[in-house]
Amino acid sequence: MSFIDSLKEAARNDRKKIVLPESMDQRTYEAAVKIVKEGIADIVIIGTPEEIEKNGAGYDLTGISFVDPFNDPNKQKYIDKFVELRAKKGVTAEMAQEQMEKDYMYYACLMCKCGDADGVVSGACHSTGNTIRPALQLLKTRPGIHSVSGFFLMEVPDCTLGENGLFVFADCAVNPQIDAEKMAEIAAVSAESFRSFVGAEPKVALLSFSTMGSAKSDDVTKVQEAVRIAKERYPEIALDGELQLDAALVESVGALKAPGSPVAGKANTLVFPSLEAGNIGYKLVQRLAKANAYGPVLQGLSMPVNDLSRGCYADDIVGVVAMTAVQAQAMAK
Ligand code: ACO
Repeated sequence: MSFIDSLKEAARNDRKKIVLPESMDQRTYEAAVKIVKEGIADIVIIGTPEEIEKNGAGYDLTGISFVDPFNDPNKQKYIDKFVELRAKKGVTAEMAQEQMEKDYMYYACLMCKCGDADGVVSGACHSTGNTIRPALQLLKTRPGIHSVSGFFLMEVPDCTLGENGLFVFADCAVNPQIDAEKMAEIAAVSAESFRSFVGAEPKVALLSFSTMGSAKSDDVTKVQEAVRIAKERYPEIALDGELQLDAALVESVGALKAPGSPVAGKANTLVFPSLEAGNIGYKLVQRLAKANAYGPVLQGLSMPVNDLSRGCYADDIVGVVAMTAVQAQAMAK
């Protein structure tokens, strides 16, 4: 069974309610129809009757729920919650209402916050920043976590490295600035993500252009400091660094450059030292190794919210909804 089929199977076992706020995009309807038909999740689309009639024309929408943000009996509850969460930032009831009606991503996050939905998938026609910001503002990080980050589950064909070609790469999507503290935390959260999605033990490499002090620079020192913090805080996780990519992945190179490391040559969870490296790195593997890149999946939020590429197909939305549902199951435990 492929990775994505096993996720769909897991999602079906305990159905979660996922909100799709992009009623202005036809791919939303195409995906929603498939998701409901395959029993992967219950779907709520946010939109006015006019938006749904116009953009959902031609689709059999049986089994999909709809919320009209201008005419919803729960709306006042969401406005009150918005104000409660953001009053210190100067948000009034009028501002909350306007924001929710203008940007349905806010509406979707408030549905989750009030317990009326389990997760959100958006971004087919919104930028990553505009998709993530409402979640950061309203849902916030889960207890003990300071930064949300974004990982890709990489499925590399014909590959024996990692977990038979499966890897977590992070942060590839969110934090433009990564210091040692943040990198250490991303390492720990990525290990959890690997365990919950792949079902195997994570082996986490904190990557650099240096292996165990082979080069010296402030960038190397940052990664070394991240490794020190992570080892101290999360002694139960198999992690190591700083490692170059080949030392992290290839047994013979790892043995040569980092002898005795519990991770070198066996890494399946790669933590990049910057957003540039992570974002470029996953795209290189996706394009040159023809890997499937599932994500970016946000990790560290109090509830699952995930972003889509604007070039996505309806089937990509189906996959991300399955991942979001599986995250919601894990968070409910
Ligand atoms: N974790 C937790 N909270 C955060 C994080 C984070 N990583 N970043 C920002 N926040 C919080 C802030 O503390 C703030 O909270 P507050 O309003 O309660 O005080 C809130 O989120 C808004 O933060 P700002 O910094 O004002 O928001 P901004 O819009 O500037 O930044 C964002 C957040 C959108 C995530 C920004 O960092 C960003 O655009 N990152 C890059 C996204 C991107 O373009 N990625 C590459 C493309 S993705 C791809 O190719 C797959």
